[in-house]
Amino acid sequence: MIAQLNCIIIDADSANRTEMANFLANLGVNVATQLGAADTLPSLLARPAAPQLVIVNLDPNPLDMLKRVGQLVRQFQGVSFFALSQTVDPHLLMEAMHVGIKEFVPLPINEERFSAGIERVANLHGMGKRAKIVHLIPSQGGCGSTTVACNVAASLARDHKTVLLDLDFVRGAVASSFDLHPRYTIADIMESTDKLDPQLLDNALALHPASGLAVLARPELPEDSQRVTQAGMARLLSVLGRMYDYVVIDSLMHIDPVYNTVLQAADLNILVMQLNVPSAKNTERFVNAMRRLGIDSSKMQIVVNRYVKKGWDIAPEEVERTLGLKINWMIPNDFKNAIAAINYGDPVVLRTPKADMSLSLFDLAETLTRKAA
Ligand SMILES: Nc1ncnc2c1ncn2[C@@H]1O[C@H](COP(=O)(O)OP(=O)(O)O)[C@@H](O)[C@H]1O
Ligand SMILES: [Mg+2]
Repeated sequence: MIAQLNCIIIDADSANRTEMANFLANLGVNVATQLGAADTLPSLLARPAAPQLVIVNLDPNPLDMLKRVGQLVRQFQGVSFFALSQTVDPHLLMEAMHVGIKEFVPLPINEERFSAGIERVANLHGMGKRAKIVHLIPSQGGCGSTTVACNVAASLARDHKTVLLDLDFVRGAVASSFDLHPRYTIADIMESTDKLDPQLLDNALALHPASGLAVLARPELPEDSQRVTQAGMARLLSVLGRMYDYVVIDSLMHIDPVYNTVLQAADLNILVMQLNVPSAKNTERFVNAMRRLGIDSSKMQIVVNRYVKKGWDIAPEEVERTLGLKINWMIPNDFKNAIAAINYGDPVVLRTPKADMSLSLFDLAETLTRKAA
């Protein structure tokens, strides 16, 4: 079952209601009902599986509305209430606290504070974000980001609930790397405007039986990649983040809104590179772009793939100096096992677990499970 926080919005102004509904959808909250007044609220909250959250705009008569809602706060102790108002006077705030409002939200909304409040409610109801989001970005075609993503995800899936997303919408090969042929893909779960349909998501997540990994494949038709929206991506990450321990993403080097959403949401943005000039140049460009986008260096990692002791164009130390970042991991070159894995649709860590390349990928996955990683 997909855990999604359900909420009721009460606001006399319909434009406000719509705006709030969109905002909540981006935070992965499902808006069950929107109301112009509180009259029907008691019967809605008395139902089985009632929403866990009620967001009420107290304006234009904040004290009156608070009085009405206050009775319900006491009656429905399992529901969290947020109260919004443009009026921020001490008397109103005291009253809100007194009746047991969970969060008083001054208008206009401070988005950061509000989403932190939502996260607190999600935690309270056992639906807090728990996943670590690991975003793998190739610095160059063929540098091995898909290989790293698939193997790290398969390694993590041994002991943790893990999902792997393919964001290479046109050329993506995640599903075929696991010999999976899902009927539904990431494009199919973007449709609905204000909520993520649990049934659709369930259908689109393909289970890889040997590893227990869940896979969300790229669209079947390249043109369907246009169905993937920024809001849909935000919602998806938020929902998956509550369902899994690890969300691993095989991505592309992009900063358009869909990818920027992922960059910002990721706990770790891992650039996969090889020790050659074009790869190093792209990595440097993108690291700088990520910095300009406000991503902290602590959320960036560099992984060198296809490492050979003497066969590089650029020394690892030189790369580190240029990037101002340490290389976190180096995966040895092993063409034979790497290509066989792809051809057989069985990642190296599963097919040839004793190979040096597999041991390196297992260990890389293990470093990601450490707190500070
Ligand atoms: N460590 C490695 N050693 C040898 N070959 C590798 C290694 N990692 C990946 N490859 C090979 O490189 C090619 C491109 O890998 P892929 O993961 O699809 O790259 P990307 O997703 O970055 O385009 C594949 O043929 C793959 O088998
Ligand atoms: Mg790839």
